[in-house]
Amino acid sequence: MPVRDIIIDTDPGQDDAAAILLALASPEEINVLGITAVAGNVPLPLTQKNARIVCELAGKTNVPVFAGCDAPIARKLVTAEHVHGKTGLDGPTLPDPVMPLCEQHAVDFIIETIRDLPAGTITLCPLGPLTNIATAIQRAPDIVERVQEIVLMGGAYFEVGNITPAAEFNIYVDPEAAEIVFKSGIKITVMPLDVTHKVLVTPERVKAMRDQKTPVCDAMADMIDFFERFDTDKYGSAGAPLHDPCVTAYLIKPELFSGRFVNVEIETQSELTLGMTVADWWGVTDRTPNAMFMGDVDAQGFFDLLTERLARL
Ligand code: BDR
Ligand code: CA
Repeated sequence: MPVRDIIIDTDPGQDDAAAILLALASPEEINVLGITAVAGNVPLPLTQKNARIVCELAGKTNVPVFAGCDAPIARKLVTAEHVHGKTGLDGPTLPDPVMPLCEQHAVDFIIETIRDLPAGTITLCPLGPLTNIATAIQRAPDIVERVQEIVLMGGAYFEVGNITPAAEFNIYVDPEAAEIVFKSGIKITVMPLDVTHKVLVTPERVKAMRDQKTPVCDAMADMIDFFERFDTDKYGSAGAPLHDPCVTAYLIKPELFSGRFVNVEIETQSELTLGMTVADWWGVTDRTPNAMFMGDVDAQGFFDLLTERLARL
């Protein structure tokens, strides 16, 4: 499998951190060209800082980190401190980053990188609201044809919603951005709640992480212990779902996931169902398919991969 050049667009977030660490630990499969931060789980000043904290935790201080949009395209920012804590990365005690934030705006970095590298070679990996990606598409429509693929975490069909009864957080925060991305014509692979809610960090899986006895695995286990409280209380499940690393795991081992190529439309009008991903899973409309919408995952295979790779850092 050729190494994939990717840009991670993210709002860390403990599960974003897991996704970034998995990518940075997997240079045989993934080359991280840059990390672009967006407002989401917490405001932008924290997400860009957290992205640098995670790079430093991984010992990869040469990865460029950029700050992007600080608010959704047409709405006020909704954050999720109730899940991720005040900093977004609550759990372990990690030092403030020393590596600098790049001066260039994240959206300009995305556009320039896609224009500069050969067409069809860059994969965008959004792990938060789609504001940066949609803004890049709006400002530079020529990049659409040059992107190899977008692999994103967002949306839900069978699991419906987590931030509202009808919507998943990343899509709900910026539904206008999501609509632009899903209508763009770029090849899209989606990791919805239908998949991520099967990837549960049970006590055995956290123990396997801690048993690696490395600073990175310890930090990851501390992050999981923190945010798990919220989700296990909410769902009454054996462990919390680990959403975002499904994106980077897919780039390494796509065979862990299965889904359907279907039409996905974004609700942008209704107050009741705002941000809903209306996926035509059963093929009951004649709307043109626009996304590979994942539905199932080999959860133990996923955790074996995550633990083995994070232990490498
Ligand atoms: C998504 O929302 C955020 O809280 C997580 O980081 C993940 O990207 C799950 O709905
Ligand atoms: Ca996220």
